[in-house]
Amino acid sequence: MIIGILSQKGGVGKSTISINLAATLASRGKRVLLIDADPQGSAMAWSSAREGDPLFPVIGMAKPTLHKDLPEVARDYDHVIIDGAPRVNDLGRAAIIASDLVVIPVQPSPYDVWAAAETVQLVREAQQFKPNLKAVFVINRKIANTAIGRDVVGALGQFDDVPVLATALTQRVVYAESAGAGLSVAEAAPGSEGAREVERLADEIVGVVS
Ligand SMILES: Nc1ncnc2c1ncn2[C@@H]1O[C@H](COP(=O)(O)OP(=O)(O)OP(=O)(O)O)[C@@H](O)[C@H]1O
Ligand SMILES: [Mg+2]
Repeated sequence: MIIGILSQKGGVGKSTISINLAATLASRGKRVLLIDADPQGSAMAWSSAREGDPLFPVIGMAKPTLHKDLPEVARDYDHVIIDGAPRVNDLGRAAIIASDLVVIPVQPSPYDVWAAAETVQLVREAQQFKPNLKAVFVINRKIANTAIGRDVVGALGQFDDVPVLATALTQRVVYAESAGAGLSVAEAAPGSEGAREVERLADEIVGVVS
């Protein structure tokens, strides 16, 4: 299965979710490949910052031909995760077409809801010739006990073909701190709330594609 963590909006958590999802699936014994489809190379930089053994391979493929090149590479893996690039439409399109499931991270902010429309539009265009392509939203950087979290889920209801996953990732320092050391949240803070919410998110995402 190819799972694209994609949004045309920058800074919503694509790389954070890609890395932690890949790490969780790898820790479950799955053969996982992370594709860095962003010219910024965040996932590659994460991998280079790491001192220990790699959890999974990371390959840079920020190319508009990604959908043509990836199937051959993906054959040897149980799960391929694509960390997408913001803003660049031909890269976004290629990553969406390459995916079986597109996961669109959205922060609890009206700006993110407005910007989500652009990514949803690209997904709908791709579904014209890839009808089995699925898409879901995941709320990232949720702040507990705030009304804006509920408001955003309500506002995303306008995209009735893209459900919102029940699991949200919370705003936590450990997401940024772990990344700096090339670690997953589960490695930096084993058994923590953050590690547990990432596990739940992985369960839910795998449930959508299986
Ligand atoms: N749940 C979270 N809690 C705290 N910080 C977070 C969380 N998710 C992401 N961040 C931080 O927010 C910033 C942006 O996240 P990230 O790089 O994953 O987004 P992105 O969508 O990949 O960005 P870009 O579009 O530039 O590729 C990073 O500094 C990251 O550490
Ligand atoms: Mg990124």
